Order: sequence, then C-alpha cells, then structure tokens
Amino acid sequence: MPARPVHSQCVSAEPSVDFAEAEEFLERVYAEGAAEAGERFETRLAAVRAEIGETGTYRHTAAELAYGARVAWRNSARCIGRLYWRSLRIRDRRRVTGAAAVAGECVAHLRQAGRGGRIRPTITVFAPDSPAAPGPRIHNEQLIRYAGYRFEDGSVLGDPKYAEFTERVRELGWRPPERKGSFDVLPLLIEAVPGEPRLFTLPPDAVLEVPLTHPDHRWFAGLGLRWHAVPAISTMPLAIGGVTYPAAPFNGWYLGTEVGARNLADGQRYDLLPVIAELMGLDTASERTLWRDRALVELTLAVQHSFDAAGVTMADHHTESRRFLAHVEREERAGRRCPADWSWIVPPLSGGQTAVFHRYYDEPDPGARPAFLPPP
Ligand code: ARG
Repeated sequence: MPARPVHSQCVSAEPSVDFAEAEEFLERVYAEGAAEAGERFETRLAAVRAEIGETGTYRHTAAELAYGARVAWRNSARCIGRLYWRSLRIRDRRRVTGAAAVAGECVAHLRQAGRGGRIRPTITVFAPDSPAAPGPRIHNEQLIRYAGYRFEDGSVLGDPKYAEFTERVRELGWRPPERKGSFDVLPLLIEAVPGEPRLFTLPPDAVLEVPLTHPDHRWFAGLGLRWHAVPAISTMPLAIGGVTYPAAPFNGWYLGTEVGARNLADGQRYDLLPVIAELMGLDTASERTLWRDRALVELTLAVQHSFDAAGVTMADHHTESRRFLAHVEREERAGRRCPADWSWIVPPLSGGQTAVFHRYYDEPDPGARPAFLPPP
C-alpha cells in the first residue's frame, strides 16, 4: 500500500507575528520580573517591533523562552501537578530543524528527563514556525507510546488508542518486532520538511520502563505488564507571545492513577479489570460485587508499588491533590487566578476522598497565553 501523506492540512509558512501579542507577552515578562538582566522594557519592545517589521517574526531571549514555557505549564487548566511550574528545565534547541537531529534531541530529552528514575520536568523547544519556514512536527502524541495491532476480527494486541498510528507508521515502513507484544515501543514520526515524514527507532536504553508487580498477589507479575516512566507529550504546540513552536515535547512525572486507573483499566485501552478481577477470584457476573472497583484499586496499587520498588518518581492522587490546592492558594496570594478543569483535576479513583473534589475552580480561558495548544 502506498504511504499516505501525513498532513491532513498543509503545513505552510506562518504569517507575520502579531505585534500586539508580542507586546502583551513582554509586558507580563517584565511585570513578573522574568526578563534578561539589565534590559529595559522600552528597549526590548522597540527591538522586537523592528525585528518583526524586518523578518515577520522575532526571537525570544533565553529568559523569555524559559518564562514562556513555564507559564504555559502554569496555564494548563487540566494539570494537577502545577505546583512545580517554576522547576521546568528548558532545553533550548531552536536551532535544531533536521528530522534526524530532532529525533536525536528527543532521545537526549528522554535520557535527561528520566535520569534513571529521578524524573525531572523537562521541555525541549525546537524551531518555531516562521514566515520563512514552518518548524518541525513530531506526530507521536507522546515520545514513548505502545503499538496497538488490530487484527481482522477487530481485536487489538497492545494499546488500542494507537492502533491507527501504528497502522500509519507500518505503511511508512516500520517493522514491528518479530514477536509482537502488548508493549512494543513505537518509532518517532518526524516531519521536518513538509511532505517528508521520517521514522526513527528509540534506542531501548532511552526508554525507561517499570515491570509491574503487586505487593501481595504473586500471580500479578505473571501478567507481564509494564509501563514507561516518562510521559512526554509531543503534539501540543507551545504558543508564546505570538510565536508558535510546533515541536516542544514536555514531561512531568506520572500520577499512579493515570496508568493504573486509566491506561491499563479503560475499556478502550488495555481493559484489564476483568482479567484482574478473575485472578482475584471476584464474581464478575454482577456489578453489585463491585469487582471493577476492587480490581481498580489493586491495579493502581500495583503500579504505585512497582514504580516505588524501581526507584522511579511517581505521585499518588492523595498527595498531589493536597499539593494542587497549595498551588491554587499560592497563585491567589500572588494576585493571579488559577483556572482549572474540575473533570481533569479530580482523580479517576476515590475522587471524593481527595480535597480537590469538594470545590469548584476558575473557568479555564482557551485564549490564555502562553499556552500549550490543543494538538492540530
Ligand atoms: N495521561 C497521560 C498518560 O497516561 C499523560 C498526561 C501527562 N501526565 C503527567 N503526569 N504529566 O500517558
């Protein structure tokens, strides 16, 4: 089958940066004291105006880029982990444009962010879109994701969420391992030149993973489950002061419930609750035995326990809920609102047992900037 083009919409060069957006951003930079040392606001603003007039865009200083990326995190209404927004490490790779070089930097990102288990929130920023040329695109939703193989009968081996993406990379020439498994790491699909998507395999040592065991149930290890340590989102463009960086993969660390109560549990993902309930000896014939709930707790416990045993950073929903409320309070003390999306903030397990459940939050503003934008 011929490879089909990757873009649904054509990637073309951007129009000129809107000076008003640049100005609004620079005002925030200076108001929050995040500017490059020694540079006056008026001087910087005039330079940016001139640069946009000449080139249609402008280059952020290192300080502006760091502040922009951190505030994009601070503005992420769905993220419960925002207490740490100031600690985001910035890898400035704006000069990197070639597909192979982008792939190499993604690998370096995973190594540095994973640090053998002591995970550090990290972002790598590649070239922005500009009137001269579009920046590179990473098509994987995250740098590390598992393949989903759909069979004739409709069943899927692996992660069903990525069945379509798996199909796409296979059409482009990716060869799955000889023995297909439930946790085969997908290749990176990078488009640096529009219309020329290229595949890159991640070296195994860049993909830190944790085999899953349960503290009490010996049989659990026999399921052969695992998960990767670093969730690095790679399809959300970073928008700062009128400039868009289409490839800016970023990661924090996992919350146990994301893996145990969603990825491995959701019916449209690994759908493991019936399997685990069976092995626990629960009666799955009636919803009234609460077999789903009981299996969900044990699965999430296994995830948490395994990450702890492997020395890999992972938060739990009770602790992170408290920290999030501390963050909201801190933001309000700084005179800022802290918009949040209740349905994303409240954990999918024991919601009412966490403090974040029992209140409402400021409504998110989709126009807030800097921001991580929804994937194209
Ligand atoms: N929920 C996503 C996943 O399971 C990851 C989203 C980002 N999570 C994070 N802890 N930074 O892969």
